[in-house]
Amino acid sequence: MRAVTIERFGDPSGMAVTDVPVPAPGPGQLVIETEAIGVGGVDAVIRRGTLAGYGFTTGLIPGSEVAGTVTAVAADVDASWLGRRVWAFTGTGGGYAEHALAQVADVDALPAELSAVDAVTLGNAGPVAHFALAHAHFASGESVLVRGAAGSIGIATVELAALGGASAVAVTTSSPERGGRLRALGATHVLDRSGGGDPGAPSSYDVIIDIAGGPGTSEFVDRLAPNGRLVVVGAIAGMPPTDFGERLLRAFQQSRSVATFSLDTVPTSERDAVRAAQFAAAARGELHAVVHDVLPLGQAADAHRQMDEGTVFGRIVLVP
Ligand SMILES: NC(=O)c1ccc[n+]([C@@H]2O[C@H](COP(=O)([O-])OP(=O)(O)OC[C@H]3O[C@@H](n4cnc5c(N)ncnc54)[C@H](OP(=O)(O)O)[C@@H]3O)[C@@H](O)[C@H]2O)c1
Repeated sequence: MRAVTIERFGDPSGMAVTDVPVPAPGPGQLVIETEAIGVGGVDAVIRRGTLAGYGFTTGLIPGSEVAGTVTAVAADVDASWLGRRVWAFTGTGGGYAEHALAQVADVDALPAELSAVDAVTLGNAGPVAHFALAHAHFASGESVLVRGAAGSIGIATVELAALGGASAVAVTTSSPERGGRLRALGATHVLDRSGGGDPGAPSSYDVIIDIAGGPGTSEFVDRLAPNGRLVVVGAIAGMPPTDFGERLLRAFQQSRSVATFSLDTVPTSERDAVRAAQFAAAARGELHAVVHDVLPLGQAADAHRQMDEGTVFGRIVLVP
């Protein structure tokens, strides 16, 4: 089968289309013939080599999210999955391929009304956004800032915060055009990446969902309201610096908090329930799967180039 591998960390030219054997399911696994493959920000983080010290080596197939049809199951997996259309999380890789492996616990049935393309746009990002807001103890009436809002996690966070009754939903983006699109999805204030650019925006926030990470995280700790909570969800701009502890202590009287959040800590049954509800909401048009582009699998490097150029709004989806 055709798959895309990372042969060299760095720019997208290090990615190659390779012929590899169709994977065989190990215990608890099934194989999905892919119909749509999500291109996530985490794939770019891995491809750049940011996580090279965290067990990622060259030769890996990136891609953590696919939708398609189950073509094989392990002996210990319920055979009724065979032939079903599913959404699947494939872990930290394996998705950019004509067939992908997933643990049966990471597979959900795809509602007939939802396209495979929409499913891989929302399937992981939606639950990440939902549980990140829950991790921040977001409540109706509170103000929210979403840092790095133009990706699929940020877009879902903006929509969910607005639907959840936020008093204000500010976003950071480097593009006025994307800012306008985020307003249409529920943002009330559009800031530049440093947090400026809108004199009418709140000066502080109850909740900051930080998908960008990098050096800017510390600056945004200073934008927390008393009892405010900043949750680091992503590291698009690299690992956050460690001086946020000093920032917190300097503002001791504000009782601010900084936390990290990974969907890995959410029990599978809770993720599945939220994903199923979000898929149904998307099918009803209440949540939006924002697809930037649909490209052939062989153009995965082009998808990554667009991500590196910062022109993507929402998600690029690959089709085999
Ligand atoms: N916590 C979890 O469970 C979980 C799960 C999956 C993924 N993740 C993480 O989420 C991140 C990817 O999320 P995503 O796919 O939604 O995002 P994305 O599409 O990669 O990026 C979202 C936006 O961030 C902005 N951005 C890019 N570089 C930036 C920088 N240097 N400083 C500030 N903003 C910058 C860009 O918008 P503008 O140009 O408009 O500013 C970009 O469109 C990865 O770090 C991944 O590891 C976390």
